[in-house]
Amino acid sequence: MTERKETLGVSQAYDLWAEDYDAFDNPMLFMADRALRQALSRRRPGSVFEFGCGTGRNLALCNAYGATRLAGCDISGGMLSKAAERPEAAAWTLIRSDIASAAGRIDGPFDLLLFCLCLEHVQDLEAAFAAAARLLARDGDLAVFEIHPAFSASGAGAHFVRDEVEIHMPTFTHEAAAYRAAAEKAGLHLTRRTDWTPAMTSEPLPEKIARRSADAPLLLELSFRRPTA
Ligand SMILES: C[S@@+](CC[C@H](N)C(=O)[O-])C[C@H]1O[C@@H](n2cnc3c(N)ncnc32)[C@H](O)[C@@H]1O
Repeated sequence: MTERKETLGVSQAYDLWAEDYDAFDNPMLFMADRALRQALSRRRPGSVFEFGCGTGRNLALCNAYGATRLAGCDISGGMLSKAAERPEAAAWTLIRSDIASAAGRIDGPFDLLLFCLCLEHVQDLEAAFAAAARLLARDGDLAVFEIHPAFSASGAGAHFVRDEVEIHMPTFTHEAAAYRAAAEKAGLHLTRRTDWTPAMTSEPLPEKIARRSADAPLLLELSFRRPTA
């Protein structure tokens, strides 16, 4: 039984979570995986950069869908070490960096940029989208898969249990309009919005999702591009 709660800084928390992050029954990872698979089925990128790439599960999926240049950044050394253990990661570029500084550490452009379940830990969306705009190819896509603001506002947020302590970390609720405003400021415009609910997946749902309302949005997907001239 969980006995107490503790709040840690983001990198310290994910360094601890890294050990069993991929094995954790996480409804958000399930929804984000389904949404990313659909995006990759619509358009297969040759090159991908993921901000806050964690253990590299999204980069591995992009690899499996045919991307040949893969790179990512994360502020947690523990999460990056797990990513580096993947056999396919030998060919990836993994950088320990904050999202806002990552664009200065790698050469773009990339066909697909990902923010997946990391912006809930980021207060300054403008700095994050400015970094993305620097790395995005002219006709590339910036895909955002984040906890849905309605779900986040209900008190949901990233957390895990370690040694009977419930570990939390700083989180921020961002409305769709806030992502859009930060993207527009960076010169990118919205091309797609999907409010993902459990009812939108045809596969058997993990227990943690199945017990929620089928129509309550869990994940917000937004896609951005440079405006065509
Ligand atoms: C919930 S995990 C998601 C990992 C991965 N994107 C995925 O979908 O499996 C969030 C990740 O974002 C990273 N992160 C959070 N804030 C960050 C920041 N400001 N700069 C870089 N990485 C960050 C964390 O260290 C963690 O690995």
